[in-house]
Amino acid sequence: MGIAITGWGTALPDKVVTNADLEVRLDTSDQWIVDRTGIRERRVGGTTSALAIEACERALVRAGRSGDDVGLVVLATTTPDQTIPASSASIHHALGCRGGAFDLNAACAGFVYALVTVDALLQKGGGRALVVGTDTLSRVTDHDDRSTAILFGDGSGAVLLDAEAGGAGPLVLGADLGVDGSAAGLLFAEVGGTIQMEGREVFRRAVRAEIDSITKVLDTCGITPDDLALFVPHQANVRIIDAVNERLGFPSERTALVLERTGNTSAASIPLALCEAADAGRLRDGDLVLLSGFGAGMTWASAVIRWGTAAPAR
Ligand code: COA
Repeated sequence: MGIAITGWGTALPDKVVTNADLEVRLDTSDQWIVDRTGIRERRVGGTTSALAIEACERALVRAGRSGDDVGLVVLATTTPDQTIPASSASIHHALGCRGGAFDLNAACAGFVYALVTVDALLQKGGGRALVVGTDTLSRVTDHDDRSTAILFGDGSGAVLLDAEAGGAGPLVLGADLGVDGSAAGLLFAEVGGTIQMEGREVFRRAVRAEIDSITKVLDTCGITPDDLALFVPHQANVRIIDAVNERLGFPSERTALVLERTGNTSAASIPLALCEAADAGRLRDGDLVLLSGFGAGMTWASAVIRWGTAAPAR
């Protein structure tokens, strides 16, 4: 069955926190943050449900659809608004969708996990589904801890997957999903607590996990980096992205980056960068796009998708 992304949309809170704002209350500097991470500002505020609803509404408008046309909502998030129920239930209700909804927690790899899962579900059952990656990490960040407070921001990005749009092939051409629970202690937050992280070790493992995962998925698809129109990496640290690009021999001009303006928005970071690239006209029908993320768990996920509604068969 052909699956295509027919709509996409994003949402960011209004409040901007710049590096200069952080300099005022933390022992840090704009130069340190930019040099070590590539981040200049981040957006902070809102709830996971409200941001997700806004992003999904934009995706529906772009696709010329309403909630009633959607039979499944999957929210990738680590920061649901409540422990019970799933935040996807509120999104599903607010948009007037049909069918089911569930939250998926694979940290910063969550959007790719969700996309791969939903592509498989639609292959089987048809219909349309919203896949939305949203996080409000500012709610679980210790704003007095300079080693984490500079990194994180809030945001949301959504896509509408449509199995009725006439695309001839699957959206996901190949995927690699992984987790190493033995590394859980490197990046975690207790219930009601804030994020604790061993930054240097997370950095090291992230580069290795992304390179291994991407290599695997490119091999599965029988393609090389030259065949990719765009690489959409998780936006955690520009030095991680540069290291991966260098190792794969992938040019930075074909890499989607929003990190400078958003910080690390966890499950929202890949769809934010993907949607911005689509809005900027950087994607054409048939383009092969690589998505790759890693995060707490540690989780990782890579997928090659074929962009466009007129996708030829695999
Ligand atoms: N401003 C100024 N100095 C800071 C600082 C800040 N915000 N945060 C840490 N430092 C200091 C440290 O205290 C340390 O000082 P010391 O040498 O006197 O001990 C020094 O800078 C170097 O710290 P280090 O942790 O080695 O820096 P780094 O180059 O590894 O950068 C991170 C730190 C967090 C930016 C980096 O490790 C990183 O991005 N890791 C991955 C995090 C990540 O991606 N997490 C999310 C996964 S989804």
